[in-house]
Amino acid sequence: GAEQSTSTKVELRDDPVKSSSDYASGSGNAMSQGTKDNDSDSSGKVKIGFVQTANESGWRAAHTQSMKDIFSQDGYSYKFIDGQGEQSVQIAGIEELINDGYDAIILAPIVEDGWDDVLKKAQAAGIPVIIVDRKVSSDSSLYSCWVGSDFETEGKNAAKWLADNIGTSEQKNIVVLEGTTGSSAQLGRTEGFNSEISKYSSYSILASESGDFDKSKGKELMKKYLGQFDKIDVIVSQNDNMAYGVIEAIEEAGKNASDYTIVSFDGEAEAFKQMIAGKISVDIECNPLQGPTVEKLVKKLLNGETVDKEQFMEE
Ligand code: AHR
Repeated sequence: GAEQSTSTKVELRDDPVKSSSDYASGSGNAMSQGTKDNDSDSSGKVKIGFVQTANESGWRAAHTQSMKDIFSQDGYSYKFIDGQGEQSVQIAGIEELINDGYDAIILAPIVEDGWDDVLKKAQAAGIPVIIVDRKVSSDSSLYSCWVGSDFETEGKNAAKWLADNIGTSEQKNIVVLEGTTGSSAQLGRTEGFNSEISKYSSYSILASESGDFDKSKGKELMKKYLGQFDKIDVIVSQNDNMAYGVIEAIEEAGKNASDYTIVSFDGEAEAFKQMIAGKISVDIECNPLQGPTVEKLVKKLLNGETVDKEQFMEE
């Protein structure tokens, strides 16, 4: 599939990118036990394969770009595989990277379940696998480490913001647009939000359904909610793209987005514009710029160093 080459995510912090020249020159490249005994292709480059979910959101485009930027440096041979929103495509992509003798595989899993067999294949081939963004439910012995965000805390923070800023004295009705069912971002944000908002009896969740992190599906779901419920006060959209669909659905129904409290997640540049316009009320940041962190981990793993199993992004 085609790789997205532009980023729409606002870059909120300065994350220094270290040079990989020491690595590329061959210094300190001893392989760890359990990894391949050859860490470069015939040109001397380290072969890195990245299996992405799809290109469903601006967040995802920024995530893809972050990996591309860092692994375009000298010393790497980088292959991008677009999972096209299908776990089977992602699994086939990993198998291809294993067969082609890649040195490390980066996987952004669409959903948490169903990875055991292919992770065992990578392990048998001695190829470290770094899980990024969403998690897998497989035993942690089957992959090297995970890098991503604390989705449950993001969900809790959304609910805390409502209690602190909208208040708990008046009855408020909420509709939720969830992300891709079975993905860590959907599971964590839903669990975190529900557990926190249930502390306040003034908030009622009328409905919570999946819009698949997709703008047009989010729009259709919001249209349905508007037809279904007379009084909606708060709309929780588990990513910015669905929030844009929500705004369109509200405006096409002849209503004003600013009359609702719209809570979103990600923190894209476009969402900042919608906040300034008074349409999105709050946006919970999720940092997609994982490339530099992942590259440091790849170097350490290929040097035989031990790394922490879980690495949370700063946000
Ligand atoms: O897994 C992170 C989520 O996936 C982001 O919130 C969403 O925009 C993306 O598609």
